[in-house]
Amino acid sequence: MAFKAPRGTHDIFSVSALAMSEVEKIAKEIFKRHGFEELRTPIFEDAGLFLRSIGEATDIVSKEMYVFEDKKGRKLALRPEGTAGIVRSFIENRFDLSIPAGKFFYSGEMFRYERPQAGRYRQFNQMGAEYFGNSSPSADAEIMVLASDILSAVGIKDISININSLGCPKCRPLFREALVKYFSSIKDLCVDCQTRLEKNPLRLLDCKIDSDKFTNVPRMTDYLCDGCKTDFNSVQNLLKAAKINFIIDDKLVRGLDYYNRTVFEIRSGALGSQDALAGGGRYDNLVKELGGQDTPAVGFAFGAERVMLAAEKSGFFEKLKERKKVFVAIADQELFEAAFAFSIELARSGKNIAVSGPINGKSLTSQLKFADKIKAAQTIVFAKTEFEKGKIIIKDMLQKTQKEIPLSGFEDL
Ligand code: HAM
Repeated sequence: MAFKAPRGTHDIFSVSALAMSEVEKIAKEIFKRHGFEELRTPIFEDAGLFLRSIGEATDIVSKEMYVFEDKKGRKLALRPEGTAGIVRSFIENRFDLSIPAGKFFYSGEMFRYERPQAGRYRQFNQMGAEYFGNSSPSADAEIMVLASDILSAVGIKDISININSLGCPKCRPLFREALVKYFSSIKDLCVDCQTRLEKNPLRLLDCKIDSDKFTNVPRMTDYLCDGCKTDFNSVQNLLKAAKINFIIDDKLVRGLDYYNRTVFEIRSGALGSQDALAGGGRYDNLVKELGGQDTPAVGFAFGAERVMLAAEKSGFFEKLKERKKVFVAIADQELFEAAFAFSIELARSGKNIAVSGPINGKSLTSQLKFADKIKAAQTIVFAKTEFEKGKIIIKDMLQKTQKEIPLSGFEDL
């Protein structure tokens, strides 16, 4: 074959496409029940938007962005995540001035130039929610409830919800200082960690290479100021009130720089190394940093492909029902037009079926073979003798039975 899908991308079809639509439908319903409204933003944005929001030193911005120039020399990037675009839109459309709280959900393709493996792609789908204007820990808890409820609605059971607090601009510098002091005393840090130590020492906490060398690492929870401590405790109490199990994970720092206070990640026990199904947290300073009014915010996103992998393992795909397929065949060529008109009527009837046929210029035997191949449950045959009596034949392709019904009657389909 001359062309292949680019590395790290994949086609979604058949039962996977069905499952993807179902996951989206379930998630949208849950978002809407919590008062979130859909917001669609462009797939590409000014590259600077991601630099300013996700952070220059993050892996996403420094190594993984698809950046390009358009014909006028504008530097654009395919979105690596949804939050930055939603915040840009929130400010640009002056939602920060016109509505006291904004609750938005989104879904769509994201792009990251990562090394592809199972569950990690260069183009993948995310669904997420962003909640603006509410600084209460109840907003953090509600976001986590949303994420957890979506995963259980698609049948995923074996999950852990890991939470941590990253503090605020008041207390985090002290923690950062303690980390730099601690990590500077460790010999032979990997190349990435040596760079991170200067630019982003929190990221050393989730290094996969050096993690064994780190014992008794300073913990953010020991450095939280009173406000952040109270906030983190309230989030935990509210999660317990909503019957959400969670674990506190001191090493959870997330790969994006915009967070403060509570962050979380939901992992699946059924997946391999790419086990993060969803992630999110609070980002109270981002709207202001990008030029809007000072507006607190919290949100999350899940990776649709990973959620599908976990859902498949829990049997979700087996519950998906494909539409009943009905094939319209002709025993006599001169009935092609009548059969065509009938198949159009059938498709327009609003029945939960998928109609194919008729095919012109093929024998009835080969049309029936075709019907078998596409796994039609029923084939409707237009034959001259019956048609002249105002009737058509319905063949049950599994039972191998057939009967005649009036041309005008769709009831038996
Ligand atoms: P994130 O943790 O970078 O957060 O991504 C969220 C989810 O997207 C991950 O948990 C994972 O399921 C999925 N994901 C990420 N990268 C890939 C990939 N290469 N292939 C397949 N799936 C992937 C964010 O993107 C934040 N914007 C979340 C957020 C919203 N925080 C606040 N609001």
